[in-house]
Amino acid sequence: MTRTVDLRSDTVTQPTPEMREAMARAVVGDDGFGDDPTVRDLEERFAEIVGKEAALFVPSGVMANQIAVRILTRPGDVIVAGRHQHLVSFEMGASARNASVQFALVEDDAGEVGVDDVMDIVDAHLDHQVAISMVSLENTHMFAGGAPWDLTRLDALARALGETPVHLDGARLFNAAVATGQSPRAIAASATTVMACLSKGLCAPVGSLLAGPAALMRAARVERKRLGGAMRQVGVLAAAGLVALDTMVDRLAEDHARARRVAQLLAGAFPESGFDPATCRTNIVAFDHPQARQIVHELRARGVWGDTVAPRRVRFVTHAGISDDDLDFLAEVLADFVPAT
Ligand SMILES: Cc1ncc(COP(=O)(O)O)c(C=O)c1O
Repeated sequence: MTRTVDLRSDTVTQPTPEMREAMARAVVGDDGFGDDPTVRDLEERFAEIVGKEAALFVPSGVMANQIAVRILTRPGDVIVAGRHQHLVSFEMGASARNASVQFALVEDDAGEVGVDDVMDIVDAHLDHQVAISMVSLENTHMFAGGAPWDLTRLDALARALGETPVHLDGARLFNAAVATGQSPRAIAASATTVMACLSKGLCAPVGSLLAGPAALMRAARVERKRLGGAMRQVGVLAAAGLVALDTMVDRLAEDHARARRVAQLLAGAFPESGFDPATCRTNIVAFDHPQARQIVHELRARGVWGDTVAPRRVRFVTHAGISDDDLDFLAEVLADFVPAT
C-alpha cells in the first residue's frame, strides 16, 4: 500500500485515547437548560485562560466567528478586516448572509494588519463615511503561513482603536502562545471577543470556544441558538475539549519544529518560489508558486498530501499525526520531485 503523509490541515487530527475515555465517562445534562456540568467547566476554564468574564462552547470555529459578528454589529455595518482572513475569504460569505454586514479590507500578506491602514478606515467617519463597528484580527494568521502577531503591535493597534470592538479569530491562539512565549490571556487582552478551536492542533474531535464580557456572551448564547448551534448532552464533546486544554497545548512546539523542517525541505525543492523558510513560525507552511495546484496534485500521487488555499498558493500543515519519520519520507519524495511543466 502507498504510504500517506497527510499535511492538508491540522483539522485531520484524531482524538487521543485519553479524550475518548473522558468522553465515555463525561457527566452530561441538557445544555439548552444550562444543565451540563462538563460544558460549564470547559466554558469557565477557557474564560479563565483568556482572561474574559464568560465563554460559550460552539460546534465550530466558523460559528464562533459568525456569532461574534452578530453580537458586535448590526445589519448594514462595516467590519475592518485583513483581506486574507478566514472570516473574509473562507466562510462562504457567511457574514453577509448571517449578519448583513460588509467588509472594508486592508492588506495582511504577512498576517498582521497595519495600524495606519486600519485607522484610515476607522477615522473616515469624520469625512462623511460610515462608522466602523468592529475590527477583526486573526492570530495565528492561516493564509500567511500561521504567522503569529507581535504582541506590541497588536496592543498598539488596540490602543489606537480605543472603544472600537476587536474580535480575535484565534482558531490557533494556542499555537500563537507557544510560538511567542506570550500567554493566551496576554494575547487576548486587547480583544473584546476571542475564539479558539479545540479541533485543530489540540486534537479534540469537535468544538470551538468564544469568550468575552458576560453581557455579550449572553447575547452570544441567543445567536448560537438562532444559528442552530445550541446542543444538548454535549458534555461528551466538552470532556474531550478539557483534555485538549490540559494535555495538548505544550506539545504544539513539536508541530512547530516539524513545520520548520517541512519549510526548509519545500524551500529547497522549490527555490523558484522565493519562499523563505525562516518565515515559518508555527505549524503552517504556505507559499506562492505558479504551479501550486499541479504540485499538490503530483505530490499526492506520491503519498504526500497538501492543499491549495488560493490558485497559486500551496499549504502544508503539521499536527500530532505527523512524525519525524513522515518528514524523512517527505524528504525522499522531494529529493527527485519536479512538477511536470
Ligand atoms: C483562522 C481560522 N479561523 C476559523 C476557522 C474555522 O474553523 P472550523 O473549521 O472549526 O469552522 C479556521 C479553520 O480552518 C481557521 O483556519
